Parts: sequence; C-alpha cells; structure tokens
Amino acid sequence: MVSEVVVVEGIVKKYGGVVAVDNVSFRVYRGEVFSLLGPNGAGKTTTVEILECLRTPTSGDAFVKGLSVKNPGDSMKIKQIIGVLPQDFKAIDNLTVFENVQLAAVAKKADNIQEVLDSLGLWEIRKQMFSKLSGGLKRRVGIAMALVGNPEIVFLDEPTTGFDPEARRETWLYIKNIQKSGATVILTTHYMEEAERLSDRVAVMVRGRIAVEGRVRELVAKYGGRTRLVFDFLEPEAAQLLREGGYLVEQTEEGLVVIKVEKESEVFDVVALLRSGGFMAYPQVRQPGLEDVFLSVIGSRLSETGELI
Ligand SMILES: Nc1ncnc2c1ncn2[C@@H]1O[C@H](COP(=O)(O)OP(=O)(O)OP(=O)(O)O)[C@@H](O)[C@H]1O
Ligand SMILES: [Mg+2]
Repeated sequence: MVSEVVVVEGIVKKYGGVVAVDNVSFRVYRGEVFSLLGPNGAGKTTTVEILECLRTPTSGDAFVKGLSVKNPGDSMKIKQIIGVLPQDFKAIDNLTVFENVQLAAVAKKADNIQEVLDSLGLWEIRKQMFSKLSGGLKRRVGIAMALVGNPEIVFLDEPTTGFDPEARRETWLYIKNIQKSGATVILTTHYMEEAERLSDRVAVMVRGRIAVEGRVRELVAKYGGRTRLVFDFLEPEAAQLLREGGYLVEQTEEGLVVIKVEKESEVFDVVALLRSGGFMAYPQVRQPGLEDVFLSVIGSRLSETGELI
C-alpha cells in the first residue's frame, strides 16, 4: 500500500517582507526519493527545515507521519524518526569521525554506529580527526550522522555540492542504499543529473513556489522535448543536405550542430542521408532529461552552483 509519510499543506514562510516559501503543498510517499530542485533562494532549504521542525511556518501546516510540525509535542517525536544532513553541515573539528557520529548516536539513543560507518565506507577511517578530512569525506560523515538510529525519513540538503564527479557518483550509491534499506529520502540539489538518477519524483521550486512536480519520466515526456542528434562538427554542405532532407538544423553557441528527431532510431536515416552525399559524420544521441524540463518550464538553465543562466 502506498502511504504518505510527508504531507505539506499550503505552507508559507515570510522573513519580514521576503516570502521565502509561498503556499507550497506536496506529498512524499514511503520508500521514495523525492527531490526539491530550484535555483538559489528558491525556498528549498526553508521548506525542508520546516519539515525538520527547525523553522516554523508563518501559515499552513505540514505533517510527518501524521505528526504536525506546528505542535511542539509532535515535533519532538518527528525529530526522533528523521535523519538530517543540513546544507551548512558542520561537525566538531577536533573529534574523530567515530566520536562525531557517536555524538549523533547518543542524541538519537542509537547503537548502530559501526553498521552505519561500514555502510558508508568510513569504518577504516573512524579514528581520523574530522578536521583532517577532505570536503567529500566530511559530508559523508554528515550522512553517517543523519543515518544513525535508522531514521524512517532522511533529509539530505545538497549532499554532493562541491564534489568531484567520482565522489558524487559514490554518494549516489549511498543514497540509493538508503532507499533500499526502506527509508524515504527527501533531497535538495542543483544537479539535474543527480535528481534524475536518484529521484522517483521531483518538485521544481522557483521564488518560493512549486513550478512543476511529478515523476521524473513523466515530466521528461511532457516537457523534455524531442531526442536530439548532436554533431561536434558538420560541414555546411552536409548541414544543407540535412535541411533538404526535411530536418531542422540548429547551430548552438558552442558550435555544435543539433537536429531534433522523434526517436533514437532515426540516427540511422540521418547517417545514411549524409553518406549518400559523401559525408561521413556520426552524431551523438542526446535523450531529453530534467535539464530540458527545467529549461522549458523555467525558461533558463541552472548552473552547478544554483544560479539561473
Ligand atoms: N533566516 C532567514 N532570514 C531572512 N531571510 C531568509 C532566511 N533564510 C532564508 N531566507 C531567504 O529566504 C529565501 C529562500 O531561501 P532558502 O535558503 O530556503 O533557499 P534555497 O532554495 O535553499 O537556496 P540555495 O539553493 O541557495 O540553498 C531566500 O530569499 C533567502 O534569502
Ligand atoms: Mg538551500
């Protein structure tokens, strides 16, 4: 049975004149990875911190497993069943990895430190000082601190920001494993690829509101546009041949030549057409993704640091 573990009903958060979250509603179901996407200042962190009972909504309400974030008694219970990696995660510099995770375990009355450190590949380095770790490992310790006590719902606010691609991929595996263990994951990220690989559903936030929400595959099918064939280089005569063949040929700012097709298999027709004119050129096939959804819904792209470009 599909059950709702998080229900957000019309939450608003104002800071003086700034409306950080503007009437946001969504639901998260047990066992899914749900991602909040959006540019800097969109209201992602404010939204998740309301769910984590760290900020109170100005109006509206939100429920975690039926418990209201506005009710002080409930919020104590919510904090016991969630795990949190904050966006500005910090641990104690002059404690070891183990000792930091132990602090989180004491707070949660948890006894699974070794299991968590093992699952994240941190057991071997448990005696290292936190201050001596790389940025990626520090954040992984943050994930460990979020996972002690086997929380039912795990909030990860930008878990891979600033990571190199390898460290990011490694973290994706850990996040998948959290889901496999049966927990629900609520993620925020600026990385479209990350959201696409990990999420069952996403909500794109802009200026405090949800612009679009849904299953990744459905959003891509609805807003992602067509499959693109991309040539690094194409002679003008070859491009002309494609135009004569009925294709709309576009040139990007980076000098790539792009044509849109209905389905991937058309690549064979395109290559054959080019060959008939004596041109040997092979395009890369680019399937539409969340980045294209973002572009078509918001009208701009998102840089890796969260700016609209
Ligand atoms: N404590 C605060 N006091 C005043 N304004 C705040 C506070 N926290 C957030 N804001 C404002 O609320 C808006 C939403 O901020 P929030 O941090 O939720 O965005 P975000 O989507 O998480 O952005 P980022 O991608 O940069 O993390 C921003 O305009 C921010 O400046
Ligand atoms: Mg944020």
